[in-house]
Amino acid sequence: MLCARGGWQALRRCASLPRAVRLRVSEALGARESAGEVKVQGWVRSVRSQKEVLFLHINDGSSLEHLQVVADPSLENRELTFGSAVEVRGRLVKSPHRRQNMELQAEAIHVVGPCDIWTFPLKMKERHPLEYVRQFPHLRCRSNTLASLLRIRSEATAAIHSFFQANGYVHIHTPIITSNDCEGAGELFHIETSNKAREPSEKTQFFNVPAFLTVSGQLHLEVMAGAFTHVFAFGPTFRAENSQSRRHLAEFYMVEAELSFTESLQDIMQVMEDLFKTVTSTVLSRCPRDVELFHKHIAPAQKDRLERILKHKFVIISYNEAVEILKQASQTFTFKPEWGCDLQTEHEKYLVKHCGEVPVFVINYPYELKPFYMRDNEDGPQHTVAAVDLLVPGVGELCGGSLREERLPFLQSRLQRLGIADAYQWYLDLRRFGSTPHGGFGMGFERYLQYILGVDNIKDVIPFPRFSHSCLL
Ligand code: 4AD
Repeated sequence: MLCARGGWQALRRCASLPRAVRLRVSEALGARESAGEVKVQGWVRSVRSQKEVLFLHINDGSSLEHLQVVADPSLENRELTFGSAVEVRGRLVKSPHRRQNMELQAEAIHVVGPCDIWTFPLKMKERHPLEYVRQFPHLRCRSNTLASLLRIRSEATAAIHSFFQANGYVHIHTPIITSNDCEGAGELFHIETSNKAREPSEKTQFFNVPAFLTVSGQLHLEVMAGAFTHVFAFGPTFRAENSQSRRHLAEFYMVEAELSFTESLQDIMQVMEDLFKTVTSTVLSRCPRDVELFHKHIAPAQKDRLERILKHKFVIISYNEAVEILKQASQTFTFKPEWGCDLQTEHEKYLVKHCGEVPVFVINYPYELKPFYMRDNEDGPQHTVAAVDLLVPGVGELCGGSLREERLPFLQSRLQRLGIADAYQWYLDLRRFGSTPHGGFGMGFERYLQYILGVDNIKDVIPFPRFSHSCLL
């Protein structure tokens, strides 16, 4: 009997087939008992030919572990090389080797797609550095590290959706093309049609008004929170930040949540912390081998640190306290810490270290530093808004959020001062018709993966390292 998770399903799926049952590598590896007439498809990860026996390892992306194929040397052929795509038919049997559960005794091997090993950039049994495989965006998913990363990314995506669905949030697809600049930082990609050379500029503007790629779905989520109470979005986000840093991308995924009837930053921070802890625990338990690869070879000790963090409450400090800590630091900073100035990467790093290398919420930032939508704390002389950033070791800012200004007169006068009140009449309407105290946050998905896996460069946690090399996809 074949009892791996999914093994029975695979058998049932194929019950109508007269012959071989198709199994994924993970299903074959997890099978509890032998099975005759199965077929496995995948790519060859190693070939070892001995006088009496031919060994292959094949992988189909379903697990980090490869399936060992044992064959008679007569089944070898010139095209059966590292990297080739194959279909192997045979018997799945208990392996005599301690380190693997099952192996496939091949009866037939068909090379579906050959691979020229001399020009194929990945080499058999070599651990290729992330910098090396980054040069081959179209092939690097066949390396162990990137394959693990992409499986983790897929599990984390599902865990994020599950977290919100389980807590009563409605998922909203917010627009990718929009006319608003939510963050007001001017880091927008402007959209035009491509017939610029032939058309006057007003005609290249497809919508007759300037249109941009979204920098955040927040304002659209605020609309929806006014009907559904708790909503979330998880989609692509674009920022034209001229930064080649290890934590900035021009295109990244942002997880955003918006909560109506919420009067306290504490509630927003609780959701951020719960989201982080629930998703991380799920990823650690659902992809232990893939995560282990990172924690063993790329960021030793990260596993212990994460497990410790999952057990403790995140630290909370105010912006005022943060500035005092920085002013009293013995370290000399390139940017002198001053009240009213943005926290730089060097400051974020110091604060996280000062708090014991754990995630730290910094709350209540200067009014003048933050976007128009943040709620005025009406304090002084150091005037602040109810904003919160979550800083994490090695990455810096992971989440940014706030209470939103729900009071019509406050919002109206701030938009008027900025000269954008006309464009935001629709946003003011949300405060005219059934306004509630509300708030929310955004979490950078790639920065999240960078942090839990201990990856230094953000370009190594995306499927395709866009616009960073001559080989663009
Ligand atoms: O702090 P930010 O700018 O917050 C907002 O956009 C809010 N409107 C979100 C909300 O309240 N709904 O961005 C949120 C997070 C950051 O903390 C960071 O993790 C990530 O998005 N982020 C980036 N990640 C990669 N590359 C970039 N260029 C990023 N810019 C922001």
